[in-house]
Amino acid sequence: MAEAVLSIHGVSKQFGAIQALADVDFTLEKGEVHALCGENGAGKSTLMNIIAGVVQPTEGEIRVDGKAVRIPTPAAAQSLGIGLVHQEIALCPDATVAENMFMAATNRRRSPFMNYRALERDAQAVMNRLAGIDVRRKVAELPISSQQLVEIAKALTLDCRVLILDEPTAALTETEAQQLFSIIRDLKANGISIIYISHRMAEIFSLCDRVTVFRDGRYVCTDRIADVTPDDVVRRMVGREITQLYPDKLGPGDVAGETILDVDGLSDGERFHDVRLDLRKGEILGIGGLIGSGRTEIAEGICGLRPRTAGAIRLHGKVQAINTYADAVKAGIVYLSEDRKGSGVFLEMSIAQNISVLNLQAFTNRAGLLNGRAEAEFARDFARRLAVRMGGVEAPVKSLSGGNQQKVAIAKQLAVKPKVILMDEPTRGIDVGAKTEIHRLLRELASSGIGIVVISSEMPELLGLCDRVLVVREGRIAGELSAENMTEEAVIRLASGIGAARTADHAA
Ligand SMILES: Nc1ncnc2c1ncn2[C@@H]1O[C@H](COP(=O)(O)OP(=O)(O)OP(=O)(O)O)[C@@H](O)[C@H]1O
Ligand SMILES: [Mg+2]
Repeated sequence: MAEAVLSIHGVSKQFGAIQALADVDFTLEKGEVHALCGENGAGKSTLMNIIAGVVQPTEGEIRVDGKAVRIPTPAAAQSLGIGLVHQEIALCPDATVAENMFMAATNRRRSPFMNYRALERDAQAVMNRLAGIDVRRKVAELPISSQQLVEIAKALTLDCRVLILDEPTAALTETEAQQLFSIIRDLKANGISIIYISHRMAEIFSLCDRVTVFRDGRYVCTDRIADVTPDDVVRRMVGREITQLYPDKLGPGDVAGETILDVDGLSDGERFHDVRLDLRKGEILGIGGLIGSGRTEIAEGICGLRPRTAGAIRLHGKVQAINTYADAVKAGIVYLSEDRKGSGVFLEMSIAQNISVLNLQAFTNRAGLLNGRAEAEFARDFARRLAVRMGGVEAPVKSLSGGNQQKVAIAKQLAVKPKVILMDEPTRGIDVGAKTEIHRLLRELASSGIGIVVISSEMPELLGLCDRVLVVREGRIAGELSAENMTEEAVIRLASGIGAARTADHAA
Protein backbone atom coordinates (compact mmCIF):
# COMPACT_ATOMS: atom_id res chain seq x y z
CA MET A 1 0.00 0.00 0.00
CA ALA A 2 1.50 3.32 -1.04
CA GLU A 3 1.78 5.92 1.68
CA ALA A 4 0.85 9.57 1.32
CA VAL A 5 3.82 11.89 1.72
CA LEU A 6 1.64 14.92 1.34
CA SER A 7 -2.11 15.33 1.49
CA ILE A 8 -4.36 18.33 1.09
CA HIS A 9 -7.81 18.37 2.63
CA GLY A 10 -10.53 20.90 1.90
CA VAL A 11 -8.16 23.73 0.99
CA SER A 12 -9.73 27.01 -0.14
CA LYS A 13 -8.12 30.29 -1.13
CA GLN A 14 -9.80 33.60 -1.67
CA PHE A 15 -8.00 36.56 -3.29
CA GLY A 16 -10.39 39.46 -2.75
CA ALA A 17 -13.42 38.61 -4.85
CA ILE A 18 -11.72 35.72 -6.64
CA GLN A 19 -12.09 32.21 -5.31
CA ALA A 20 -8.87 30.69 -6.59
CA LEU A 21 -9.41 27.36 -4.81
CA ALA A 22 -12.62 25.95 -3.37
CA ASP A 23 -12.42 22.96 -1.04
CA VAL A 24 -9.81 20.98 -2.98
CA ASP A 25 -8.21 17.67 -2.06
CA PHE A 26 -4.96 16.25 -3.34
CA THR A 27 -2.77 13.31 -2.32
CA LEU A 28 0.83 12.67 -3.24
CA GLU A 29 2.27 9.18 -2.72
CA LYS A 30 5.87 8.38 -2.03
CA GLY A 31 7.94 8.04 -5.19
CA GLU A 32 5.23 8.99 -7.65
CA VAL A 33 5.19 11.63 -10.37
CA HIS A 34 1.77 13.22 -10.10
CA ALA A 35 0.50 15.54 -12.83
CA LEU A 36 -1.76 18.46 -11.97
CA CYS A 37 -3.82 19.67 -14.94
CA GLY A 38 -6.32 22.45 -15.45
CA GLU A 39 -7.05 25.46 -17.61
CA ASN A 40 -5.33 28.81 -17.12
CA GLY A 41 -6.52 30.14 -13.80
CA ALA A 42 -7.76 26.76 -12.53
CA GLY A 43 -5.76 27.23 -9.32
CA LYS A 44 -2.75 24.97 -9.92
CA SER A 45 -0.01 27.48 -9.07
CA THR A 46 -2.02 28.79 -6.13
CA LEU A 47 -2.13 25.33 -4.54
CA MET A 48 1.59 24.85 -5.16
CA ASN A 49 2.32 28.24 -3.58
CA ILE A 50 0.30 27.17 -0.55
CA ILE A 51 2.25 23.92 -0.23
CA ALA A 52 5.53 25.83 -0.59
CA GLY A 53 4.65 28.41 2.06
CA VAL A 54 4.42 31.34 -0.37
CA VAL A 55 0.67 31.84 0.04
CA GLN A 56 -1.53 31.08 3.05
CA PRO A 57 -4.78 29.15 2.54
CA THR A 58 -8.06 30.68 3.69
CA GLU A 59 -9.20 27.28 4.91
CA GLY A 60 -8.19 23.63 4.94
CA GLU A 61 -5.51 21.29 6.16
CA ILE A 62 -2.12 20.13 4.89
CA ARG A 63 -0.61 16.89 6.16
CA VAL A 64 2.96 15.73 5.69
CA ASP A 65 3.53 12.05 6.50
CA GLY A 66 0.05 11.96 7.98
CA LYS A 67 0.68 14.81 10.43
CA ALA A 68 -1.12 18.16 10.13
CA VAL A 69 1.39 20.96 9.51
CA ARG A 70 1.43 24.72 9.09
CA ILE A 71 3.64 26.11 6.35
CA PRO A 72 3.84 29.85 7.06
CA THR A 73 6.98 30.60 5.02
CA PRO A 74 9.07 29.16 2.18
CA ALA A 75 11.75 28.37 4.79
CA ALA A 76 9.20 26.25 6.69
CA ALA A 77 8.40 24.36 3.48
CA GLN A 78 12.12 23.81 2.92
CA SER A 79 12.62 22.34 6.36
CA LEU A 80 9.72 19.95 5.66
CA GLY A 81 11.61 18.88 2.53
CA ILE A 82 9.35 20.63 0.03
CA GLY A 83 10.95 22.40 -2.95
CA LEU A 84 9.17 24.45 -5.64
CA VAL A 85 10.32 25.44 -9.11
CA HIS A 86 8.16 28.48 -9.82
CA GLN A 87 6.29 28.91 -13.08
CA GLU A 88 7.73 32.41 -13.44
CA ILE A 89 11.47 32.82 -13.54
CA ALA A 90 12.45 34.78 -10.44
CA LEU A 91 16.22 35.01 -10.45
CA CYS A 92 18.50 37.88 -9.55
CA PRO A 93 19.69 38.99 -12.98
CA ASP A 94 22.84 40.68 -11.69
CA ALA A 95 24.02 37.71 -9.64
CA THR A 96 25.85 34.73 -11.08
CA VAL A 97 24.21 31.38 -11.74
CA ALA A 98 26.00 29.86 -8.73
CA GLU A 99 24.88 32.67 -6.45
CA ASN A 100 21.31 32.27 -7.60
CA MET A 101 21.40 28.52 -7.15
CA PHE A 102 22.51 28.73 -3.55
CA MET A 103 20.56 31.78 -2.51
CA ALA A 104 17.97 29.67 -0.71
CA ALA A 105 20.40 27.11 0.64
CA THR A 106 22.92 29.65 1.97
CA ASN A 107 20.29 30.90 4.39
CA ARG A 108 20.68 27.61 6.17
CA ARG A 109 24.39 27.19 6.06
CA ARG A 110 25.33 30.81 6.40
CA SER A 111 28.63 31.31 8.13
CA PRO A 112 30.99 34.26 8.37
CA PHE A 113 33.41 32.41 6.12
CA MET A 114 31.49 31.40 3.09
CA ASN A 115 33.70 29.37 0.84
CA TYR A 116 32.95 30.88 -2.52
CA ARG A 117 35.06 28.44 -4.48
CA ALA A 118 33.31 25.46 -2.91
CA LEU A 119 29.95 27.05 -3.63
CA GLU A 120 30.82 27.43 -7.30
CA ARG A 121 32.13 23.88 -7.49
CA ASP A 122 28.98 22.45 -5.89
CA ALA A 123 26.78 24.56 -8.14
CA GLN A 124 28.63 23.42 -11.25
CA ALA A 125 28.27 19.77 -10.23
CA VAL A 126 24.50 20.13 -9.86
CA MET A 127 24.23 22.14 -13.07
CA ASN A 128 26.18 19.58 -15.07
CA ARG A 129 23.43 17.04 -14.48
CA LEU A 130 21.12 19.35 -16.44
CA ALA A 131 23.19 21.30 -18.93
CA GLY A 132 26.65 22.68 -19.55
CA ILE A 133 25.98 26.21 -18.33
CA ASP A 134 28.97 27.93 -16.70
CA VAL A 135 27.77 28.83 -13.21
CA ARG A 136 30.11 31.84 -13.03
CA ARG A 137 28.10 33.65 -15.70
CA LYS A 138 25.63 36.36 -14.79
CA VAL A 139 21.99 35.34 -15.14
CA ALA A 140 21.21 38.48 -17.15
CA GLU A 141 23.47 37.24 -19.96
CA LEU A 142 21.61 33.95 -20.37
CA PRO A 143 18.79 33.24 -22.80
CA ILE A 144 15.44 32.43 -21.29
CA SER A 145 15.78 28.64 -21.68
CA SER A 146 19.02 28.67 -19.67
CA GLN A 147 17.38 30.81 -17.02
CA GLN A 148 14.67 28.22 -16.67
CA LEU A 149 17.35 25.55 -16.19
CA VAL A 150 18.91 27.66 -13.43
CA GLU A 151 15.53 27.74 -11.67
CA ILE A 152 15.40 23.96 -11.82
CA ALA A 153 19.02 23.53 -10.72
CA LYS A 154 18.30 25.82 -7.80
CA ALA A 155 15.61 23.43 -6.55
CA LEU A 156 17.91 20.44 -7.04
CA THR A 157 20.42 21.96 -4.59
CA LEU A 158 17.81 21.69 -1.85
CA ASP A 159 17.52 18.26 -0.42
CA CYS A 160 13.84 17.77 -0.94
CA ARG A 161 11.49 14.83 -0.55
CA VAL A 162 8.71 16.58 -2.42
CA LEU A 163 9.66 18.47 -5.57
CA ILE A 164 7.11 20.65 -7.31
CA LEU A 165 7.71 21.62 -10.93
CA ASP A 166 5.30 24.28 -12.21
CA GLU A 167 5.52 24.23 -16.03
CA PRO A 168 9.25 23.58 -16.04
CA THR A 169 9.55 22.92 -19.77
CA ALA A 170 7.68 25.96 -21.08
CA ALA A 171 10.92 27.60 -22.25
CA LEU A 172 13.18 24.57 -22.72
CA THR A 173 14.50 23.03 -25.91
CA GLU A 174 13.61 19.44 -26.67
CA THR A 175 17.04 18.14 -25.57
CA GLU A 176 16.96 20.13 -22.37
CA ALA A 177 13.48 18.83 -21.62
CA GLN A 178 14.65 15.24 -22.19
CA GLN A 179 17.53 15.85 -19.79
CA LEU A 180 15.08 17.10 -17.19
CA PHE A 181 12.86 14.04 -17.66
CA SER A 182 15.75 11.70 -17.02
CA ILE A 183 16.55 13.59 -13.81
CA ILE A 184 12.91 13.34 -12.76
CA ARG A 185 13.03 9.58 -13.32
CA ASP A 186 16.20 9.32 -11.21
CA LEU A 187 14.63 11.32 -8.40
CA LYS A 188 11.57 9.10 -8.52
CA ALA A 189 13.74 5.99 -8.35
CA ASN A 190 15.27 7.46 -5.20
CA GLY A 191 11.85 7.72 -3.59
CA ILE A 192 11.33 11.44 -4.16
CA SER A 193 7.75 12.47 -4.87
CA ILE A 194 7.08 14.93 -7.65
CA ILE A 195 4.17 17.16 -8.57
CA TYR A 196 4.35 18.03 -12.25
CA ILE A 197 2.34 20.85 -13.83
CA SER A 198 2.21 21.15 -17.59
CA HIS A 199 -0.15 21.97 -20.44
CA ARG A 200 1.64 19.43 -22.66
CA MET A 201 -0.22 16.15 -22.65
CA ALA A 202 2.60 14.18 -24.31
CA GLU A 203 4.94 14.99 -21.42
CA ILE A 204 2.36 14.10 -18.84
CA PHE A 205 1.62 10.76 -20.45
CA SER A 206 5.25 9.74 -20.79
CA LEU A 207 6.35 10.89 -17.35
CA CYS A 208 3.58 10.69 -14.79
CA ASP A 209 1.96 7.91 -12.76
CA ARG A 210 -1.25 9.69 -11.84
CA VAL A 211 -3.09 12.82 -12.92
CA THR A 212 -5.36 15.15 -10.97
CA VAL A 213 -7.59 17.65 -12.75
CA PHE A 214 -8.80 20.99 -11.36
CA ARG A 215 -11.46 23.13 -12.98
CA ASP A 216 -12.37 26.67 -11.86
CA GLY A 217 -10.61 26.21 -8.54
CA ARG A 218 -12.34 22.91 -7.82
CA TYR A 219 -11.10 19.37 -7.63
CA VAL A 220 -12.47 17.23 -10.48
CA CYS A 221 -10.79 13.81 -10.35
CA THR A 222 -7.62 11.78 -9.92
CA ASP A 223 -6.77 8.83 -12.18
CA ARG A 224 -3.91 6.50 -12.93
CA ILE A 225 -2.36 7.61 -16.23
CA ALA A 226 -2.69 4.06 -17.51
CA ASP A 227 -6.48 4.28 -17.16
CA VAL A 228 -7.11 7.49 -19.16
CA THR A 229 -6.33 9.06 -22.54
CA PRO A 230 -5.15 12.63 -23.26
CA ASP A 231 -8.62 13.35 -24.64
CA ASP A 232 -10.19 12.28 -21.35
CA VAL A 233 -7.93 14.64 -19.43
CA VAL A 234 -8.61 17.57 -21.77
CA ARG A 235 -12.35 16.97 -21.61
CA ARG A 236 -12.29 16.99 -17.81
CA MET A 237 -10.17 20.15 -17.78
CA VAL A 238 -12.46 22.20 -19.98
CA GLY A 239 -15.73 20.48 -19.14
CA ARG A 240 -16.67 20.11 -22.79
CA GLU A 241 -15.53 18.41 -25.94
CA ILE A 242 -12.77 20.21 -27.85
CA THR A 243 -13.45 19.34 -31.44
CA GLN A 244 -11.69 21.35 -34.07
CA LEU A 245 -8.15 22.01 -32.99
CA TYR A 246 -7.03 24.44 -35.68
CA PRO A 247 -9.00 26.93 -37.74
CA ASP A 248 -9.20 26.35 -41.50
CA LYS A 249 -6.17 27.40 -43.48
CA LEU A 250 -6.20 29.20 -46.80
CA GLY A 251 -7.62 26.78 -49.34
CA PRO A 252 -6.01 26.14 -52.75
CA GLY A 253 -8.51 28.66 -54.21
CA ASP A 254 -7.80 31.50 -51.74
CA VAL A 255 -4.47 32.81 -52.93
CA ALA A 256 -2.59 35.01 -50.54
CA GLY A 257 -2.88 38.61 -51.67
CA GLU A 258 -0.41 41.42 -52.13
CA THR A 259 2.77 41.60 -50.09
CA ILE A 260 2.34 43.40 -46.78
CA LEU A 261 5.82 43.06 -45.32
CA ASP A 262 8.92 42.58 -47.36
CA VAL A 263 12.24 42.01 -45.65
CA ASP A 264 15.19 42.14 -47.97
CA GLY A 265 18.71 40.98 -47.15
CA LEU A 266 18.56 41.71 -43.44
CA SER A 267 21.75 41.11 -41.44
CA ASP A 268 23.05 42.17 -38.08
CA GLY A 269 26.54 40.93 -38.88
CA GLU A 270 26.35 38.50 -35.99
CA ARG A 271 23.24 36.44 -35.27
CA PHE A 272 21.45 36.54 -38.63
CA HIS A 273 22.48 36.99 -42.24
CA ASP A 274 20.80 37.92 -45.49
CA VAL A 275 17.28 37.22 -44.29
CA ARG A 276 14.61 37.55 -46.96
CA LEU A 277 10.95 37.10 -46.29
CA ASP A 278 7.69 38.32 -47.66
CA LEU A 279 4.42 38.21 -45.86
CA ARG A 280 1.27 38.32 -47.94
CA LYS A 281 -2.19 39.55 -47.15
CA GLY A 282 -4.46 36.88 -45.68
CA GLU A 283 -1.80 34.34 -44.80
CA ILE A 284 -0.26 33.26 -41.52
CA LEU A 285 3.46 32.85 -41.98
CA GLY A 286 5.26 30.48 -39.62
CA ILE A 287 8.90 30.59 -38.62
CA GLY A 288 10.36 27.32 -37.40
CA GLY A 289 13.83 26.25 -36.36
CA LEU A 290 15.67 25.14 -33.27
CA ILE A 291 15.75 27.33 -30.19
CA GLY A 292 18.88 29.46 -30.55
CA SER A 293 18.79 29.36 -34.36
CA GLY A 294 18.25 33.10 -34.56
CA ARG A 295 14.48 33.31 -35.00
CA THR A 296 14.00 35.69 -32.09
CA GLU A 297 16.94 37.82 -33.21
CA ILE A 298 15.48 38.12 -36.70
CA ALA A 299 12.16 39.30 -35.27
CA GLU A 300 14.03 41.75 -33.06
CA GLY A 301 16.00 42.96 -36.06
CA ILE A 302 12.82 43.62 -38.03
CA CYS A 303 11.23 45.67 -35.29
CA GLY A 304 14.14 47.83 -34.23
CA LEU A 305 15.05 46.01 -31.05
CA ARG A 306 18.42 44.94 -32.44
CA PRO A 307 20.77 46.98 -34.63
CA ARG A 308 21.12 45.90 -38.27
CA THR A 309 24.09 46.21 -40.55
CA ALA A 310 22.32 45.60 -43.84
CA GLY A 311 18.95 45.14 -45.44
CA ALA A 312 15.66 46.90 -46.02
CA ILE A 313 12.20 46.57 -44.52
CA ARG A 314 9.24 47.52 -46.68
CA LEU A 315 5.62 47.82 -45.63
CA HIS A 316 3.19 47.78 -48.54
CA GLY A 317 6.13 48.51 -50.80
CA LYS A 318 7.42 51.53 -48.88
CA VAL A 319 10.82 51.41 -47.23
CA GLN A 320 10.58 52.04 -43.48
CA ALA A 321 13.26 53.64 -41.36
CA ILE A 322 13.01 51.43 -38.28
CA ASN A 323 15.79 51.98 -35.78
CA THR A 324 13.94 51.68 -32.51
CA TYR A 325 10.93 49.74 -31.37
CA ALA A 326 8.97 53.00 -31.21
CA ASP A 327 9.68 53.45 -34.96
CA ALA A 328 8.30 49.95 -35.59
CA VAL A 329 5.13 50.56 -33.61
CA LYS A 330 4.63 53.86 -35.41
CA ALA A 331 5.01 52.14 -38.76
CA GLY A 332 2.51 49.47 -37.64
CA ILE A 333 4.77 46.53 -36.78
CA VAL A 334 4.47 45.08 -33.28
CA TYR A 335 6.34 42.26 -31.62
CA LEU A 336 5.15 39.85 -28.93
CA SER A 337 8.23 38.85 -27.00
CA GLU A 338 8.82 35.24 -25.93
CA ASP A 339 9.95 36.58 -22.57
CA ARG A 340 6.66 37.79 -21.15
CA LYS A 341 8.06 38.91 -17.84
CA GLY A 342 11.07 40.69 -19.29
CA SER A 343 9.30 42.73 -21.94
CA GLY A 344 5.77 41.50 -22.49
CA VAL A 345 3.74 43.08 -19.71
CA PHE A 346 4.10 45.52 -16.84
CA LEU A 347 3.27 43.37 -13.83
CA GLU A 348 2.45 46.18 -11.43
CA MET A 349 0.12 47.98 -13.85
CA SER A 350 -3.53 47.12 -14.32
CA ILE A 351 -4.85 44.90 -17.08
CA ALA A 352 -6.52 47.92 -18.73
CA GLN A 353 -3.34 50.02 -18.61
CA ASN A 354 -1.30 47.20 -20.09
CA ILE A 355 -3.68 46.68 -22.95
CA SER A 356 -3.74 50.38 -23.86
CA VAL A 357 -0.14 51.32 -23.16
CA LEU A 358 1.07 51.09 -26.76
CA ASN A 359 -1.94 52.95 -28.07
CA LEU A 360 -2.55 55.68 -25.52
CA GLN A 361 -3.40 58.34 -28.08
CA ALA A 362 -6.52 56.37 -28.97
CA PHE A 363 -7.83 56.97 -25.45
CA THR A 364 -6.62 60.52 -25.03
CA ASN A 365 -8.74 63.51 -26.02
CA ARG A 366 -7.49 66.64 -27.72
CA ALA A 367 -6.77 68.29 -24.38
CA GLY A 368 -4.47 65.37 -23.55
CA LEU A 369 -6.78 63.85 -20.95
CA LEU A 370 -6.95 60.09 -20.72
CA ASN A 371 -10.45 58.70 -21.03
CA GLY A 372 -10.24 55.96 -18.42
CA ARG A 373 -13.69 54.66 -19.17
CA ALA A 374 -12.99 54.12 -22.87
CA GLU A 375 -9.70 52.48 -21.96
CA ALA A 376 -11.44 50.09 -19.55
CA GLU A 377 -14.21 49.30 -22.04
CA PHE A 378 -11.70 48.51 -24.73
CA ALA A 379 -9.72 46.28 -22.34
CA ARG A 380 -12.86 44.49 -21.18
CA ASP A 381 -13.77 43.70 -24.76
CA PHE A 382 -10.37 42.13 -25.47
CA ALA A 383 -10.30 40.30 -22.16
CA ARG A 384 -13.67 38.81 -23.02
CA ARG A 385 -12.55 37.67 -26.46
CA LEU A 386 -9.44 36.02 -25.08
CA ALA A 387 -11.32 34.63 -22.04
CA VAL A 388 -8.96 36.19 -19.50
CA ARG A 389 -9.87 34.88 -16.05
CA MET A 390 -9.75 37.95 -13.81
CA GLY A 391 -11.53 39.94 -11.12
CA GLY A 392 -11.73 43.08 -13.26
CA VAL A 393 -9.64 45.08 -15.73
CA GLU A 394 -8.46 47.35 -12.88
CA ALA A 395 -6.61 44.44 -11.23
CA PRO A 396 -2.83 44.40 -11.59
CA VAL A 397 -1.45 41.94 -14.14
CA LYS A 398 0.63 40.24 -11.45
CA SER A 399 -2.59 38.98 -9.87
CA LEU A 400 -3.34 36.88 -12.98
CA SER A 401 -2.32 33.28 -13.55
CA GLY A 402 0.63 32.72 -15.91
CA GLY A 403 -1.46 31.83 -18.94
CA ASN A 404 -3.78 34.76 -18.39
CA GLN A 405 -0.81 37.14 -18.27
CA GLN A 406 0.18 35.83 -21.68
CA LYS A 407 -3.29 36.63 -23.00
CA VAL A 408 -2.91 40.22 -21.78
CA ALA A 409 0.45 40.44 -23.55
CA ILE A 410 -1.29 39.42 -26.78
CA ALA A 411 -4.16 41.87 -26.26
CA LYS A 412 -1.63 44.65 -25.71
CA GLN A 413 -0.20 44.09 -29.20
CA LEU A 414 -3.58 43.80 -30.87
CA ALA A 415 -4.75 47.06 -29.34
CA VAL A 416 -2.32 48.98 -31.57
CA LYS A 417 -4.34 47.90 -34.62
CA PRO A 418 -1.07 46.93 -36.23
CA LYS A 419 -0.36 46.17 -39.89
CA VAL A 420 1.96 43.32 -38.93
CA ILE A 421 2.28 41.30 -35.74
CA LEU A 422 5.37 39.21 -35.10
CA MET A 423 4.59 36.73 -32.35
CA ASP A 424 7.30 34.78 -30.59
CA GLU A 425 5.92 31.59 -29.00
CA PRO A 426 2.47 33.16 -28.61
CA THR A 427 0.75 30.25 -26.88
CA ARG A 428 3.45 29.21 -24.46
CA GLY A 429 1.82 28.32 -21.14
CA ILE A 430 -1.67 28.71 -22.61
CA ASP A 431 -4.17 25.92 -21.95
CA VAL A 432 -5.73 23.90 -24.78
CA GLY A 433 -9.07 25.70 -24.82
CA ALA A 434 -7.61 29.21 -24.81
CA LYS A 435 -5.04 28.14 -27.39
CA THR A 436 -7.81 27.26 -29.80
CA GLU A 437 -9.34 30.70 -29.13
CA ILE A 438 -6.04 32.44 -29.84
CA HIS A 439 -5.50 30.48 -33.04
CA ARG A 440 -8.99 31.36 -34.18
CA LEU A 441 -8.35 35.03 -33.40
CA LEU A 442 -5.08 34.99 -35.38
CA ARG A 443 -6.86 33.49 -38.36
CA GLU A 444 -9.56 36.14 -38.09
CA LEU A 445 -6.93 38.89 -37.99
CA ALA A 446 -5.13 37.44 -40.99
CA SER A 447 -8.39 37.34 -42.95
CA SER A 448 -9.06 40.95 -42.02
CA GLY A 449 -5.76 41.93 -43.67
CA ILE A 450 -3.33 42.09 -40.75
CA GLY A 451 -0.03 40.34 -41.44
CA ILE A 452 0.65 37.56 -38.94
CA VAL A 453 4.05 35.97 -38.38
CA VAL A 454 4.23 33.21 -35.79
CA ILE A 455 7.51 31.92 -34.40
CA SER A 456 6.85 28.59 -32.73
CA SER A 457 8.85 25.68 -31.40
CA GLU A 458 5.74 23.62 -31.13
CA MET A 459 5.53 21.51 -34.24
CA PRO A 460 1.74 20.91 -34.19
CA GLU A 461 1.14 24.66 -33.88
CA LEU A 462 3.48 25.49 -36.73
CA LEU A 463 1.99 22.89 -39.04
CA GLY A 464 -1.61 23.21 -37.88
CA LEU A 465 -1.88 26.99 -37.94
CA CYS A 466 0.42 28.37 -40.63
CA ASP A 467 -0.13 28.56 -44.39
CA ARG A 468 3.57 28.70 -45.11
CA VAL A 469 6.63 28.03 -42.96
CA LEU A 470 10.15 29.42 -43.18
CA VAL A 471 12.78 27.42 -41.34
CA VAL A 472 15.76 29.21 -39.80
CA ARG A 473 19.11 27.55 -39.25
CA GLU A 474 22.15 29.32 -37.84
CA GLY A 475 20.74 32.74 -38.56
CA ARG A 476 19.78 32.05 -42.16
CA ILE A 477 16.55 31.04 -43.86
CA ALA A 478 17.30 27.39 -44.61
CA GLY A 479 14.17 26.82 -46.64
CA GLU A 480 10.51 27.44 -47.19
CA LEU A 481 7.68 24.94 -46.91
CA SER A 482 4.32 25.48 -48.55
CA ALA A 483 1.05 23.74 -47.76
CA GLU A 484 1.90 20.75 -49.96
CA ASN A 485 5.29 19.89 -48.51
CA MET A 486 4.80 21.01 -44.95
CA THR A 487 5.53 18.02 -42.72
CA GLU A 488 7.21 17.55 -39.38
CA GLU A 489 10.03 15.69 -41.05
CA ALA A 490 10.61 18.46 -43.59
CA VAL A 491 10.83 21.07 -40.81
CA ILE A 492 13.29 18.96 -38.80
CA ARG A 493 15.41 18.30 -41.87
CA LEU A 494 15.73 21.99 -42.65
CA ALA A 495 16.19 22.99 -39.02
CA SER A 496 18.96 20.51 -38.40
CA GLY A 497 20.61 20.83 -41.79
CA ILE A 498 20.19 17.20 -42.82
CA GLY A 499 18.33 18.15 -45.99
CA ALA A 500 20.92 20.79 -46.90
CA ALA A 501 23.83 18.41 -46.38
CA ARG A 502 22.24 15.99 -48.79
CA THR A 503 21.70 18.60 -51.44
CA ALA A 504 25.33 19.64 -51.06
CA ASP A 505 26.46 16.03 -51.51
CA HIS A 506 24.31 15.84 -54.55
CA ALA A 507 25.87 18.90 -56.06
CA ALA A 508 29.40 17.66 -55.36
N1 LIG B 1 -1.95 37.28 -5.84
C1 LIG B 1 -3.14 37.16 -6.42
N2 LIG B 1 -4.08 38.14 -6.30
C2 LIG B 1 -5.29 38.01 -6.89
N3 LIG B 1 -5.69 36.94 -7.61
C3 LIG B 1 -4.83 35.93 -7.75
C4 LIG B 1 -3.50 35.99 -7.18
N4 LIG B 1 -2.85 34.84 -7.50
C5 LIG B 1 -3.72 34.12 -8.25
N5 LIG B 1 -4.90 34.76 -8.39
C6 LIG B 1 -6.08 34.28 -9.13
O1 LIG B 1 -6.34 32.95 -8.75
C7 LIG B 1 -6.77 32.17 -9.86
C8 LIG B 1 -5.94 30.93 -9.97
O2 LIG B 1 -4.64 31.28 -10.45
P1 LIG B 1 -3.44 30.25 -10.59
O3 LIG B 1 -2.23 31.05 -10.85
O4 LIG B 1 -3.45 29.31 -9.45
O5 LIG B 1 -3.87 29.46 -11.94
P2 LIG B 1 -3.10 28.30 -12.73
O6 LIG B 1 -3.99 27.10 -12.68
O7 LIG B 1 -1.74 28.15 -12.21
O8 LIG B 1 -3.12 28.85 -14.23
P3 LIG B 1 -1.97 28.86 -15.42
O9 LIG B 1 -2.14 27.60 -16.18
O10 LIG B 1 -2.36 30.03 -16.26
O11 LIG B 1 -0.64 29.04 -14.78
C9 LIG B 1 -6.70 33.09 -11.06
O12 LIG B 1 -7.99 33.56 -11.35
C10 LIG B 1 -5.81 34.23 -10.63
O13 LIG B 1 -6.14 35.42 -11.26
MG1 LIG C 1 0.13 28.54 -13.03
